[in-house]
Amino acid sequence: MNNVRNFVIISHIDHGKSTLADRFLELTGTVSKDKMQPQYLDMMELERERGITIKMQPCRMNYRFDGKEYVLNLIDTPGHVDFSYEVSRSLAAVEGAILLVDATKGIQAQTVKNLESARALNLQIIPAVNKIDLAQAKIEETEKEISNLLNIPATDILRISGKEGTNVEKILEKVIKNVPPPDTEGRAEKPLRALIFDSKYDSYKGVVAFIRVIDGKITKGQSIFLMKGKIKGEAKEVGVFKPFFTPVDFLEAGEIGYVATGIKKGGAVRVGDTVTASESEDITPLPGYKEPQPMVFISIYPQDSSKFDLLKDALNQLSLNDASLTFAPETREGLGRGFQCGFLGLLHAEIITERIRREFRLALVLSSPSVLYKVMTHNGKELLVHTPADWPEEPGQIKETLERFAILKVLTPVTFLGSVMEAIGGIEVYDLKTDYVGTEKAELSCRTPLREIITKNFYDKLKSVSKGFASMNYETIEGDESEWQKVELVRLDVLVLGKKEEAFSKIVPARESMKEGRNMVEKLKEALPPQLFSVPLQAVVGGKVVARETIRARRKDVIAPLYGGDYTRKRKLLEKQKKGKKELKEKGKINIPPETYIKIMG
Ligand code: GTP
Repeated sequence: MNNVRNFVIISHIDHGKSTLADRFLELTGTVSKDKMQPQYLDMMELERERGITIKMQPCRMNYRFDGKEYVLNLIDTPGHVDFSYEVSRSLAAVEGAILLVDATKGIQAQTVKNLESARALNLQIIPAVNKIDLAQAKIEETEKEISNLLNIPATDILRISGKEGTNVEKILEKVIKNVPPPDTEGRAEKPLRALIFDSKYDSYKGVVAFIRVIDGKITKGQSIFLMKGKIKGEAKEVGVFKPFFTPVDFLEAGEIGYVATGIKKGGAVRVGDTVTASESEDITPLPGYKEPQPMVFISIYPQDSSKFDLLKDALNQLSLNDASLTFAPETREGLGRGFQCGFLGLLHAEIITERIRREFRLALVLSSPSVLYKVMTHNGKELLVHTPADWPEEPGQIKETLERFAILKVLTPVTFLGSVMEAIGGIEVYDLKTDYVGTEKAELSCRTPLREIITKNFYDKLKSVSKGFASMNYETIEGDESEWQKVELVRLDVLVLGKKEEAFSKIVPARESMKEGRNMVEKLKEALPPQLFSVPLQAVVGGKVVARETIRARRKDVIAPLYGGDYTRKRKLLEKQKKGKKELKEKGKINIPPETYIKIMG
C-alpha cells in the first residue's frame, strides 16, 4: 500500500474543483485528452447545466513519479452546506486534502468548516491558490488568508491555474510526497470493516456502495452485512473507479473502490455505515456515523392528481440513490394525494424535485419549505410538527411551542460587513472576528432559528447584499440545551371564499403573523385568475382574521354580442348571469388552478 495515496479536494462551489480534477485525469492519462469533455467527473446532466457539482465521481489514477508507480484515489467532498455530514465521511476515508481557493474570491465559510473537520481528522493539507491566470486574481491576499488559517508560510502555498494547467503537476507531486500512504499495519488480517462514503443505485446489482476498506479484505462473491442498516447483502461485484466502474477480484485495507451489494431497499445503504463480512458482536462499527437528518420539509403533489403513483415510483427510485431523502404520503384537499418529503437543505430539495420533473416528466406542486417544530400540549404530549397539517386544530390544546436553533457563521469581506449585519437583522451576533482569515475578512457567529436560515432563504439574501462575496455555514446544535427554544408560533391559514385552503397554511412566529398574512393574501390576489363574482381572501390565525383582500368580480359582458334594440332579451341575459353567479357563490367553491399554487408557494 506504500504507493497508494487517498485524497480529496476541499473547495467552495465554483472555486475550480472539477476543472482541476479534469487536469489530473489528463495528466495521469486516466482519460485521454481527445475523450475529455470539461468537468468530466460531473456525471449528471443537471450538474453540467447548472455548473455545480453535486457529487463528483471518484477516480483512481495511475501516475509515474520519480521512477515509481503510484495509485492516486481522488474522492469528492460536495462543496455545499447541505452535505456537511457527507463531507465528513469522505474526509474520514482519506489521508490528505488539497485545499483549493479561488484567488478572486478568497476563503469561504464552508471551506473553513470543512478544513476544520479535515484537520480534526489529521489529514495532510496541501494548499493551492487557483485561477491565477485571471486579471482580477488577488493572489497575495488569498495566500495571506490561507497562511493565517493554516499557520504556515505563504511560500508553502502553490499558485495554480486549473484552467491552463499551470503547476498542476506540482500538486500531484505534493500529494505523493506529503500525503502519507494509508496505515495498513496489522490491518490486512483483521476482519473486514469498510466505510461507506457514497452510493449509487444500479437496477441489476442493487445499491453500489462506494467504500474505503479500513480493515481486512472484501472479495467478490462474499456475503456482507451493514452494521447500522442491519441488512445482509452479497458482494456481487467489487471494483475501482477508473473513473468508470472497473471490476477487480478484491479490495484490501487502505484501498478505495466500490461494492455492489445486491441490496434493493431504499434507505438501507447509508453514508457512514460500516460494511462487515457478517453480523458479529465482536466488531465495532467505524466512528462518526449519523442517521440522515432532514432539515427541510416540503409537501410535493403531482399537478395532475392522477399521477400520484408515478410520483411514488419517482421518490422510491431516487431514495435508492440517496438515503437522506425521506417521504411519507399525505392528502390535502384541493391538491389530492402527495408526499411530505424531508431534505438535508434547500439545494438538496431543489436537486430532487428537479430530477423528478426531468427524469420522470412530472409537473409538480410544492408547498413552501418548512422546518421541524415542537408543540407541547396541555395534556403533556410533545408533537413533532413537520408541516402545517400536523399543527393541532385547537389552539387551546397548545401549552407552548418550540423551534430549533442553529449556529450560523458568515464570512464576509470587511467592506460588506455593514450590509451583512443588516441582512442578519435582529439576530444577535455573539462573536465577531476580524483577524481569523486575515484582516480583510470578518467572521460573524450567531445563534438563530433554523427557520430564519431556511424558510427565508438567507443564503440568497446574503449573496445579494455582498455581491456574492459573503458566504455562510450553519450547523444545528444537537444535544445542546439551546437547540430547542420557546417561541410563540402560530399556524396561519388562508381562507378563499370562507374556505380554508390547506396548501397555503404556514407556521410563523406570532409576532410576524400579520405581516405574513398580508403578504399571503396580496400574493394570492395577484395570482388567482379573475372570477365572475367577488372573492374574499382572508388570512386567519386561531379563528381571527389578521389580513384580508377581495378579488373584485370580473363582469362578463354577456350582452355585448347584441347590437342595439331588443331590451327584453338583454334583461333576460343579465338576469341569467346574476342567477348563475349567485349559484356559483353558494356552491362556495372556486377552482384554484395549479399555476396559482405554484405562484404562491414557489
Ligand atoms: P462546483 O462544480 O460548483 O463544485 O464547482 P467547481 O469547484 O467544480 O468549479 P468548476 O471546476 O466547475 O469551475 C468553476 C468555473 O471556474 C468554471 O467556469 C471554470 O471554467 C472556471 N475555472 C476553474 N478553474 C479556473 C482557472 O484556473 N482559471 C480560470 N480563469 N477559470 C477557472
